Amino acid sequence: MAERPIVIATRKLPPAVEDRLSRDYRAALNPDDSLYEAEALLRAAEGADALFVLPSEKLTADVIGRLPASIRAVATFSVGHEHIDLPAARKRGLVVTNTPDVLTAATADLAMLLILTCARRTFETQDILRAGKWPRMAPTWMLGTDVTGKHLGIFGMGRIGRALAQRARGFDMTIHYHNRSRLPADLEAGAIYHADADEMLDHCDFLSLNSPASTETHHWLNADRLARLPDRAFVINTSRGPVIDEAALVAALQEGQIAGAGLDVYEHEPQIHPGLIAQKNTYLLPHIGSATIETRNAMGFKCLDNLDAVFAGREPPNRLA
Ligand code: DGY
Repeated sequence: MAERPIVIATRKLPPAVEDRLSRDYRAALNPDDSLYEAEALLRAAEGADALFVLPSEKLTADVIGRLPASIRAVATFSVGHEHIDLPAARKRGLVVTNTPDVLTAATADLAMLLILTCARRTFETQDILRAGKWPRMAPTWMLGTDVTGKHLGIFGMGRIGRALAQRARGFDMTIHYHNRSRLPADLEAGAIYHADADEMLDHCDFLSLNSPASTETHHWLNADRLARLPDRAFVINTSRGPVIDEAALVAALQEGQIAGAGLDVYEHEPQIHPGLIAQKNTYLLPHIGSATIETRNAMGFKCLDNLDAVFAGREPPNRLA
């Protein structure tokens, strides 16, 4: 019987995922969850058959070009794939897969949570209560804003953008969206399409960024676009930090150009711009969009389904390269 393929897991994974990985492969796990620098990853890859990675590992053209010939596949435990140079992978004949679909609901839930928390100032009030500083219920204290009936602009109407729209409709929000192309009527579900994304900004009480990170979306929300948003608008980001020019966002918050921001992702994770922390009207989460046990297990199993297909000589279901 052929030896089981060797898979290097670059991060500590949920127990159920590590169990299956260790059952079906000769797995090198990472119980300390320490980060692999490129050189260490290249050394670990010697003699291995596949890498099971996260966005923390940057598979640049240089790294891919230096991977040992034994590496046939890379499965990333993420839907985002900006950390992998796909053209370089294709050139090298490397199979690359990701984990779409299974994290859509969890990430859309978190975007909706950020909308609600921005509107109702829940983080602020929680801090005050825990510090024992709640004066008493008062008619004019900690007033937020309604979500019901407000306008939500969604930049990027892929799976997660559409799942967020579905949730927001439950709050009677009017949905506006911009996408590279207009969706068919059944997927649009009554949302208002703006071919010109800048024109959509004028309508937003909330603007949610749901596009992938790419050279086209890098710093898409810049100083000019922030200035175009109404001053009542909140910016929500559960996609990727670099879609926002973080320094420009801090300036817009400081100058009161917008009402606040609810963020789960940052330009230089895990560093957070000190200006975001200093603002009272920012609601900051540490990249937990997909962080539910069900979702993280499903993401891990998807990575394994893809690797299983590669090593059984089948087409992997979520192939990027
Ligand atoms: C994704 O899947 O891209 C999430 O952000 C987790 O990294």
